[in-house]
Amino acid sequence: MPEWDILSKDDIKRIQGSYAKFAHLHQETGDYLYKHLFECCPDVVNIFKVDMKEQSRTLMRMVKTVVEGLNNVDVIMPAIQHMGDRHHDIGITSDQYKYFKESLLFAIGKVLGNDFTPEIKESWSKFYDVLEGLMKGNKYN
Ligand code: HEM
Repeated sequence: MPEWDILSKDDIKRIQGSYAKFAHLHQETGDYLYKHLFECCPDVVNIFKVDMKEQSRTLMRMVKTVVEGLNNVDVIMPAIQHMGDRHHDIGITSDQYKYFKESLLFAIGKVLGNDFTPEIKESWSKFYDVLEGLMKGNKYN
């Protein structure tokens, strides 16, 4: 899978190392993300039919799965593709993916504080780009 090649060994180390610092903060991280997302895209609020506290944890469990799977990406590919299909079926747009990225980086910045260095941010940015690309596949071309 060539997409994963965007992430260098150092990126993976930075992602896994910094994730370990907020692994115990799934609720807070997810809550920051959705608060940011709903402020920048209020129209997105209505597409969520679930309890958002729970959604925060669901999302962050998936982030954990992908972060831990970076050393063995074949194992996580089916879950990522399935998730991408689900999001396509719900009607998630490319623009919404873009706002979601900003919201994820915002949330990680909040929970990491001063540990969110420009290098760490860049690695997470690449992480998201790969994940988004794999979720979208060729469905958005
Ligand atoms: C890398 C990006 C994303 C990840 C990792 C992610 C993760 C998840 C997960 C794990 C679920 C629950 C499982 C499922 O229903 O398949 C979910 C559901 C959902 N996600 Fe995402 N998501 C991402 C991007 C987005 C974006 C960009 C939007 C729209 C702004 C979005 C909106 C939704 C909605 C509406 C649901 C369904 C909630 C419900 O059942 O009511 N997601 N997402």
